[in-house]
Amino acid sequence: METVVINITTEYERALKESAELLKSGEVVGIPTETVYGLAANAFDEEAVKKIFIAKGRPSDNPLIVHIAKLEDLAPLVREIPEKVKIMAEKFWPGPLTMIMKKSDRISNAVSGNLDTVAVRMPKSDYARAIIESCGLPLAAPSANLSGSPSPTNAKYVFDDMNGRIPLIIDGGNCEIGVESTVISFAESPPRLLRPGGVTLEEMTELIGEIVVDDAVLNKLEEGAVASSPGMKYKHYAPRADITIIKSDFKAFKKLCDSEKDVTALCFDGEDGLLSCPCVTYGEESDGYSQSARLFDALRELDESGAHKVYARCPDTKGMGLAVYNRLIRASGFKIKIL
Ligand code: TXA
Ligand code: MG
Repeated sequence: METVVINITTEYERALKESAELLKSGEVVGIPTETVYGLAANAFDEEAVKKIFIAKGRPSDNPLIVHIAKLEDLAPLVREIPEKVKIMAEKFWPGPLTMIMKKSDRISNAVSGNLDTVAVRMPKSDYARAIIESCGLPLAAPSANLSGSPSPTNAKYVFDDMNGRIPLIIDGGNCEIGVESTVISFAESPPRLLRPGGVTLEEMTELIGEIVVDDAVLNKLEEGAVASSPGMKYKHYAPRADITIIKSDFKAFKKLCDSEKDVTALCFDGEDGLLSCPCVTYGEESDGYSQSARLFDALRELDESGAHKVYARCPDTKGMGLAVYNRLIRASGFKIKIL
């Protein structure tokens, strides 16, 4: 299969027309969002949804997020809309927030991975919402990477993973946020944070009160444990390089890097000039948003540079830092060294 790329910033009408035609006929299209690129298909067409799993090489028990363009599109997907979801949607939609609710009969097991719930998100990206509106369908879409690699934050990375596997990629430039949406479940009370992302725990708690943070957000799941979110039991975001997170100040980090051979540092902006080993930077030390915007690109750059032993500076876990830390501990296979 030939994979066509259309740049929506320069060919807006053509991008919408061709993506709508393919999506309506049950095909899979790579689309930009403000978090990461998605691999989209008609959420109501089970055969189309199955093609996503094949293109990604994704285990079929890992459910997909359904993307909508307007609030009216939510009701047909769910059994009921909990009061707290209405409050959250009012404040954070469109945005990098995915909310899980009991699913309606229209959601197939292919989308929900055999669960009785469905995850829904209204993306902030104008391009993503225009694509959804122009085909007139809710779009099931996981991140557009091959299962196990970092989520793609630009169309080139989607092409690297999906060339020959899907007919069309819509190029909308770089993703603003750079890590996937916050996932929170309202299928239980109090609501449970399953994946930290662009809407922070602090912002949500301020709005709706108590939120339980699932164990898997900060810790490795024990062998055989049942995951609240199936995606959390898979090894994720894993570059080929072997990463260890170093919890220390910069001085101790530098001493460690200087004392060993063949080390590559994954460090904060400005620190690269102070280290003598090869470095890849991932944002400012005090700014979680600049770290999230860089993290997945930095992981891909580590692999492109051929790095094999990587020491990473440890982000703060407050605010947006929680999402950055959550992705980095997975990329490292939970290897953390405290100095
Ligand atoms: O930002 C994002 O969320 C991106 C863009 C494309 O929207 N999408 C994305 O999808 O990251 P994906 O499939 O890579 O991650 C979805 C996560 C998985 O960990 C999955 O297990 C979880 O959400 N999930 C989906 N539906 C669920 C459900 N009904 N119950 C529990 N977890 C669910
Ligand atoms: Mg993913």
